[in-house]
Amino acid sequence: MAQLWGGRFTKETNAAVKSFNDSLGFDQRLYHEDIEGSLAHARMLGRQGILTPEETDLICQGLTGILADIESGALPFTDGYEDIHSFVEAHLIDRIGDAGKKLHTGRSRNDQVALDMRLYTRRQIDAVRGEVRGLLEVLLRIMKENKRTWMPGFTHLQKAQPVTLAHHMGAYFEMFRRDMERLTDCRERMNYSPLGAGALAGTTYPLDRDYTAKALGFAGPTRNSMDSVSDRDYLIELLSDLSLIMMHLSRFSEELIIWNSNEYRFVEMDDAYSTGSSIMPQKKNPDICELVRGKTGRVYGDLVSLMTTMKGIPLAYNKDMQEDKEPAFDAIDTALACLSLFAGMLDTLTFNREVMARSAMKGFTNATDAADYLVGKGVPFRDAHGIIGRLVLYCIDKDLSIEDLSLEELKGFSEAFGEDIYEAVSLETCVEKRLTAGAPSEAALDDMIRASEAWLAEII
Ligand code: ARG
Repeated sequence: MAQLWGGRFTKETNAAVKSFNDSLGFDQRLYHEDIEGSLAHARMLGRQGILTPEETDLICQGLTGILADIESGALPFTDGYEDIHSFVEAHLIDRIGDAGKKLHTGRSRNDQVALDMRLYTRRQIDAVRGEVRGLLEVLLRIMKENKRTWMPGFTHLQKAQPVTLAHHMGAYFEMFRRDMERLTDCRERMNYSPLGAGALAGTTYPLDRDYTAKALGFAGPTRNSMDSVSDRDYLIELLSDLSLIMMHLSRFSEELIIWNSNEYRFVEMDDAYSTGSSIMPQKKNPDICELVRGKTGRVYGDLVSLMTTMKGIPLAYNKDMQEDKEPAFDAIDTALACLSLFAGMLDTLTFNREVMARSAMKGFTNATDAADYLVGKGVPFRDAHGIIGRLVLYCIDKDLSIEDLSLEELKGFSEAFGEDIYEAVSLETCVEKRLTAGAPSEAALDDMIRASEAWLAEII
């Protein structure tokens, strides 16, 4: 028996139509959720007296056996079944006979698939949260170890002011922290059970929706049966969250690609996380970063695909919604793989601290501090800005840094310069004097790291 709905038809389905319509090829991955949902439904039907205790037991044993056999490989997903729901039900009837035909009482595949997708999505949100957490832990470790690792901070990809590696990594920590919070919100909002909504209008059987919702770990049943079977907002929300995660990973990847370049050499990628060239023996390429950057487009595509699928669908269920699965699965698989590989790559990355510090010393990252020094000596900021600007031009010409100039040369630009200028524009002073909350000084970072650790420890 391949179809659940032969009665009304007098002809066989056209073979091409059947294969166009069937979804078992991709929804088979919902087998666990499908059986989990059916077990809860069957137990509820038993409790409500809709099934006899014997029928309930037979169905539950049959379903548990099917689950075990799918997992052991004894029951392969052979062609011919329309979808995972038909596959499980047909095998149940094969195995236990007439009792199996009663499982679908008071249920439609519309609320069944809505339930399966929610159960699956909820599990995947937890998996993604686990991966984001792993990445946050790597970031925190790097931050703790690099509070005094000086490096240039950039704007317009031009050296701007000195920061520390801990501070730079802290920026990514914030991004992924927001991602984590978004995932938590998404999970909370979607955690309601559509089971019992029927095809669209509930059912005349005395179902206990609170029982099945609770048994399946939901906060409660959904509130409107038509919305229950036609809502895929939570998938769109998750795919938006995943798109943001990918955007963050992609920006991070781009930076690491730059930092790994021959010109920068801020980082060295571990051999286990790099690849070579088939022709150029000297190459060690940052392929993980490039692939993560590339796969970002694919996850955005999945999001846009799903939004476009949903935009013209009248209430309630329409078959268009079967198209939710492949983009959702693809986005989830892609984001999970990217998060895990990226964290592994980051965890094994070597930072060339010397190179970073030397780079921070070059490029006049202390020019703002030099101007602030003059302000401290009573020079109005706009004048100080002009003086340092001319001084920088002079240094560029001579290939020198501000601190390389003698006091005499400096005084040629402003009488306000004194011996204490060298201390004032040293890398250490430039960073450590930045004490405002969220700034790169060690003191400000310590606060941030402590608060971040406390927050991470609270996350379930
Ligand atoms: N394979 C279908 C889907 O993924 C299951 C629901 C089918 N419902 C229906 N009325 N044909 O959406």
